[in-house]
This record gives sequence, C-alpha cells and structure tokens, in this order.
Amino acid sequence: MPDTVMSNEIHPPGCGQSSWHGVTLLVLDEPTVGLDPITRKAIIELLYSINQEFGTTLVITTYDIWLAATLCKRIAVLREGRVVAHCNAGGIRKLRPGTYEARLFSPLTRERKYINAANEPSKKPRDADYVLQATGVNVVFRTGYWSHKSASALTNVSISLAADSALGVIGPSGAGKSTLSMVCAGLLRPNGGQVFHNGTAVHTKRGRINKLPHTVQMVFQNPFAALNPRRAIGEWLRSLLRRRSHNGQAHAHDPKDYLELVHLPQRILKALPCHLSGGECQRACIAGCLSAGACALILDEPLGMLDPITQDEIIELLLSLRKDQGLAYFVCTHDLSLIARLCDDLIVLAEGTVVESGPTGRVLEHPEHPLTRQLASACLWNKPMA
Ligand SMILES: Nc1ncnc2c1ncn2[C@@H]1O[C@H](COP(=O)(O)OP(=O)(O)OP(=O)(O)O)[C@@H](O)[C@H]1O
Ligand SMILES: [Mg+2]
Repeated sequence: MPDTVMSNEIHPPGCGQSSWHGVTLLVLDEPTVGLDPITRKAIIELLYSINQEFGTTLVITTYDIWLAATLCKRIAVLREGRVVAHCNAGGIRKLRPGTYEARLFSPLTRERKYINAANEPSKKPRDADYVLQATGVNVVFRTGYWSHKSASALTNVSISLAADSALGVIGPSGAGKSTLSMVCAGLLRPNGGQVFHNGTAVHTKRGRINKLPHTVQMVFQNPFAALNPRRAIGEWLRSLLRRRSHNGQAHAHDPKDYLELVHLPQRILKALPCHLSGGECQRACIAGCLSAGACALILDEPLGMLDPITQDEIIELLLSLRKDQGLAYFVCTHDLSLIARLCDDLIVLAEGTVVESGPTGRVLEHPEHPLTRQLASACLWNKPMA
C-alpha cells in the first residue's frame, strides 16, 4: 500500500534505461523531491545518461537548484507565472546580486562545507532534564493484510534531546526516520522500548497514552496536509490556547502573539490554509506548536516542499526561536545543509539501526561509517554535467 513505502519507491515507473528508446521529449515535474542524497544522485545520473545516450530532450520543472545547475543547459526562472530570468549553469554566478534569481541560486554559491553556527559540543544533562528521550525503541510492521509476515523498521534505537539543543537524524530512504519521529511524537506505539517527554513516559505499562502537557509537538513535511482545510488559522490557534488554559497552563492568550513569533502578519488569522503559501503555512504550523505549549519540536523533512528562498527563511526562523524561546529540535531529514545549520549532534540510521553518531561537524566532515561517507559525498556532488 502507498502508506507503507518509502519516498524512493514512489518514483516514476519505467525508470529502466531500455524503455527510453524512441522517447524524444521527457517532461519531469520535481523528479528529485523527497529523495535521499544517494537516490537523488542516481536519478540525476540516470536522467543524464537518458539525455546523452538516447538524445531525449528533458524539460524539468523544479525548485531543486542543484538538479537544475547540474543537469540543465538552459534555465528559466519563473516567478508569479512570468519568466523573470534566463541563464545557463555557468551564468549562475554572474547573476546581478540582490535580484530574485540571484537569491534563489545563492545556496549554490555558498561555501559547501558542513559548518554549523550553533555547533558547540552539546552538554550532557541529567536524565530528567531531557525534553525528549527514547530508549531501546523497536518497531515491527506487519507486511500485507493477509500475511502474518513482519518487517523490522527500528531496532534498539535510543535518542536524547536536551532543552535548547538540536539533534538531527539522517539516513537513506527507508532507514526509519519518519517511523522514529512518529514514535517520539507519541503517534506510533513502539513494539519495544519507551519514549519520555520531560521525564514522563508517553505510554503506560498497559500500552495506553499517558495524559501529558503538549510540550513535544510535530512539524510535518506537508504543511497543507497537516492543517484542517476548513478551519481558519486564528480559530485553530484559539482552540489550542483554550486547551492549554483548560490544562491550567499559563500562557499568552492572544493568537497574534504567536503569529508574531513566527513573523506572520495579523491578516493570517482569518485565512484558511489554502490561502497561504507553503512557507506561510509551515510558519503557521510552527505557531500552532508554540500555542500548544511546545518546548521541543520534532521536524520530519520540514523543508521538503519549500523553495530555496523559503527554506532559508524557515531555517533562520528555527534558529531564532531556538535562541529566543529556547526551543529544542529533533530533525529527521535528507537535507544535510539543514542539519549542518541547525543541529549540534547527529545520528545516522540505516535499516532501522544507529550506525554512527556524534557532533554534526565531526560526523559530516570525517564520517566513519561507509553509509555516512556515501551520504555526505552524494550531497557535495554538484559538478555540472551539461
Ligand atoms: N505503516 C507501515 N506498514 C508497514 N511498513 C511500513 C509502514 N510505515 C513504514 N514502513 C516501512 O518501514 C521502513 C521505514 O520507513 P520510514 O518511512 O520510517 O523511512 P524513512 O527513513 O522516513 O524514509 P524516507 O526518507 O523515504 O521518508 C520502510 O521499509 C517502510 O516501508
Ligand atoms: Mg520519511
């Protein structure tokens, strides 16, 4: 079933090379979105060889600027339905500074090193001081409705997230990142192990969910799907604040305060999710987490559906919320540049087990496990082919 496959399995049918004989034009809409760096590199190489060997013309619409710069001979920048610039891969560095297109391509011209601004070695707090902890988590899924076969998605995974810190999880597709984030958020009951929010177990011994203050909240990859399409943002924020008052927690009562924290204007209060852009919607989701009383956010591919400029804005927002509000982050992603900018520590998952962990800079600059090396090198791989 589609809900049981990873992102690299939901990919274009007919990707085998032999099927491209006689295809003169191939139109691709975001062919690399949601893929891990290794699969993404394989798809880019495949597209390159299709273009070279079979003479197939490729037309690609994407916000993956690395894909465009690597593969495309000519690039058109579209903004609000109009082409605002044309360039080729070599011309990206010559774009007029300050223009929309130069801002769009700016991550390409930055130094591509894994340096994290907040990357001091993390302090080791006492167990009770962790906002989020998972110990010895095992998850086994049944495969198929009629068979009794099962597959292990997580094996003995433990993580600890201290207040005001940020931990990243990387791994190829199917490594178990989303499963781990669901378990940590209390949305999926593990088959073994336990999860603690601020020192309190999320599940009771009988497997029920404990009543906890909503201090750990989740931000999903698709902000539109995460919100109720028929509920105005203000109404939603008010309901979260009411629930918080009901639980006897002190807090700011005006939803506008929370919108201000995520740099959204007041008019958003009356808007429905469909009236917002992707970036505004993701900000609204973060405002919702803050209204619910979050001190830690679990972010599963939070930038996956956003363009490079909006991605940058959301990273800046997360950094400022960490600095000003002391928010802690647990980030599951393929995007090593997000991890490098946001996370102090990093764990690498492969087939549901932790294969490497340590401070982000150390793990990404001097990877020890072959998989980490592969992930890090696939990300730096951006030699233009065109
Ligand atoms: N509901 C489910 N039922 C059965 N198997 C599942 C289910 N959800 C996930 N899986 C399996 O568990 C494994 C881990 O999936 P998960 O979605 O956590 O990977 P991921 O690391 O987030 O991948 P991606 O990077 O592609 O998002 C995969 O093999 C997947 O097929
Ligand atoms: Mg996932």
